[in-house]
Formats: sequence, C-alpha cells, structure tokens
Amino acid sequence: MSQRIGFTVWFTGLSGAGKSTLAEALSARMLAQQIAHEILDGDLVRTNLSKGLGFSKEDRDTNIRRIGFVANLLTKHGVPVLTAAISPYKAIREECRALIGPERFVEVHVHAPLDTLVERDVKGLYKKAIAGEIKNFTGVSDPYEAPEAPHVHVDSSTESIEQSLEKLWRHLVERGFIKA
Ligand code: ADX
Repeated sequence: MSQRIGFTVWFTGLSGAGKSTLAEALSARMLAQQIAHEILDGDLVRTNLSKGLGFSKEDRDTNIRRIGFVANLLTKHGVPVLTAAISPYKAIREECRALIGPERFVEVHVHAPLDTLVERDVKGLYKKAIAGEIKNFTGVSDPYEAPEAPHVHVDSSTESIEQSLEKLWRHLVERGFIKA
C-alpha cells in the first residue's frame, strides 16, 4: 500500500489572531495541489467531538488531547492534518508533539498583539471578557503560554495572509512534506 507522508500543522495563538484563516488558506493551497488533508478547527471540534466542554484548564486540556489524538490517527495513516485551536498550555502541546512524533509535527504560532485583537474583536468576545462578562478568557483573564521556538511564527498585524502562508509553505517544502 503506497502512502503519502502524514504530518500535523499545529496552529496555536489567541482567539482572533488568525489561526483558522491561515489554516483555510493553507488548505486551499493544498487542495490546489490535490493534497487530501483534514482540518480540526477548535470552534468546530467544540460543537461535536468536544461538545459540552468549557474553558477551565482541565476542559481545555481534554479538548486539546482529543484533537491531538485524532490528529495522530490521521497523521500516522498519511493524512496531513491542520489543527486550529488556541491550545494555550505548553505542556499539552508538547504531549501532542510527542504523540504525533516531532518529525511530523509543525508548530505555527499565529500572533497578533492583544490591542489589535481587542480592536478587531471579530466575535465581540474581547469586550465582554474585559467587562468581566466572560470569565477565564485567554489573553485577558486566562493564561496563554506562547511557544518559545515554533517552526513558523507569523504576525497577522504586520504580515498579509499571503506572506504568512508563503513562510509556512516554504517550511513545509523544506521539511519534505510537500513539493514546491
Ligand atoms: S482551547 O483553549 O481549548 O484551545 P478553542 O480553540 O477550542 O480553545 O476555543 C476557543 C474559541 O472559543 C475562541 O475562539 C472563542 O470563540 C471561544 N471562547 C469562548 N469562551 C472562551 C474563553 N473563555 N477563552 C477563550 N476562548 C473562548
């Protein structure tokens, strides 16, 4: 049975930083090259696989472990996976990296300064979090442990989506996951 190389692109970053947008852009480029893959997006996972989980550390850890579990199953069978959840805790991200295998794991930190995110406030959640209407909101009233050495670091406040995608694509090519 011939198989493609599986890999997981693990996007991490604050809500609204652009994880899903960049994952979708990567997905479109992969589709254009006929590279079948799967996206595990935090918002979507939370409506099915992780339905009922909240935002305590325990629930977030469970959510991320589930995403890592599924990502590993797909990756080991040659399916590239793009995950897009805040995944705020370093230890759990490291657990997922170890499970999937560091050689198949691509960590992408999607950054934007908090001020920018509050200004954008696409879902209107930052204002509510600042007003105390939403508790334990990542970056406002709950921790976010940024990766120290991500494979790819993008800043959606200073880079265009095309620039960020190009950086990420180059990394995937360099690692031998995709052809230029
Ligand atoms: S994670 O921490 O478990 O990785 P996940 O990415 O699945 O989070 O979900 C984050 C999304 O849930 C945010 O983009 C936001 O829309 C919503 N959300 C609701 N409450 C919170 C909260 N307290 N902290 C962060 N995000 C929240």
